[in-house]
Amino acid sequence: MLNYRNELDKMPSYDGVEKDYRIKMNANESTMNLPPTVEERVMNRLALVTLNRYPNEEYYSLTNQLAKNFGVESNQVILGGGSSEIIEKVFHAFGGAGRKIVYPQPSFSMYKIYAKAAEAEGIPFALNDKFDLDVDAFIKTVQETGANLAVVCNPNNPTGNALTVAQIEKIVASIDCAFLVDEAYVEFYGQSAVKLVGKYRNLMIARTFSKAYGLAGARVGYMIAQSEVTRMVNKTFMPYHMNKLSLVAADIVYQMRDEFVPRIQMMIAERKRMATRLKELGGMEIFPSETNFLLIRLEEAAALREYLERLDIGIRYFSSGAAGLENCLRISMGTRTENDEVFAAIKNFSEGIR
Ligand SMILES: Cc1ncc(COP(=O)(O)O)c(C=O)c1O
Repeated sequence: MLNYRNELDKMPSYDGVEKDYRIKMNANESTMNLPPTVEERVMNRLALVTLNRYPNEEYYSLTNQLAKNFGVESNQVILGGGSSEIIEKVFHAFGGAGRKIVYPQPSFSMYKIYAKAAEAEGIPFALNDKFDLDVDAFIKTVQETGANLAVVCNPNNPTGNALTVAQIEKIVASIDCAFLVDEAYVEFYGQSAVKLVGKYRNLMIARTFSKAYGLAGARVGYMIAQSEVTRMVNKTFMPYHMNKLSLVAADIVYQMRDEFVPRIQMMIAERKRMATRLKELGGMEIFPSETNFLLIRLEEAAALREYLERLDIGIRYFSSGAAGLENCLRISMGTRTENDEVFAAIKNFSEGIR
């Protein structure tokens, strides 16, 4: 008899479809591998890695670099296997039986799962029909439920829109409990709440190398908070949880982050160009986005997804089970050529049905 932990069978699974499409626009990754100059330096550095030793120096080299850039102490930085691990550990640190975690809905679908894994009660806070977060109502919900942890995703995945730093500050200043801001897409937005960390002891910022820095395959994320918080959250990690190969790759990428600026700007420009073209095409709603993806809504979403699938183009479809996202599709930005091909396919599809 396989006697699993209580409730494991009821645990929802991540609903993303993992498949290597010809044009892959379903996971908000960077469509391009590292810039060649960065890749060369990473490869040269990897050749020097001492795999027989646990990672120490490499961990501290990256945390020191991040700390220096953000003007914080290195003990205010925690690294994780993607920001996924960071978020999961934060939920673990503030969760537990009988405790509550408030997060927006629709938002990153893993919050619900991490809350459950932490045996906490997940309390989804509904965004309005434009996907905006009513800041005062959110604060009220956090206070009235006596939540132990509140989370926002800024800019928000999968809706694409963002809160201002002033709105984030209003939330963090008004609630007593821990507050996690998931900034996975912030490089495409340019407005980070990191600068508030010195002022608020309940604030944690999670960021990642997976999106703007094209390192989704290396799994490296980080969190910045006051040292009192990082000291406690650190207790939830295994020793040596990061591997050296990923650490040195992220270390070089971060040293050479200026090389990524043109492609971040290109993704923003492509997102604007695609939004304009899709709006002109008509027959669908295009939501404002500050990220590397667009969320669209059209009645024929399921059929469009299937049509694109047949062309080996992967986009993210939200089934009717995803609250607030009925008939929505999320399209990550690709290169100009990829975007042109996807746009042409959507246009063909639209002309076929109208
Ligand atoms: C909002 C948000 N947070 C966190 C993550 C996790 O990313 P990673 O673990 O690759 O850093 C994702 C990935 O899609 C995301 O969309």
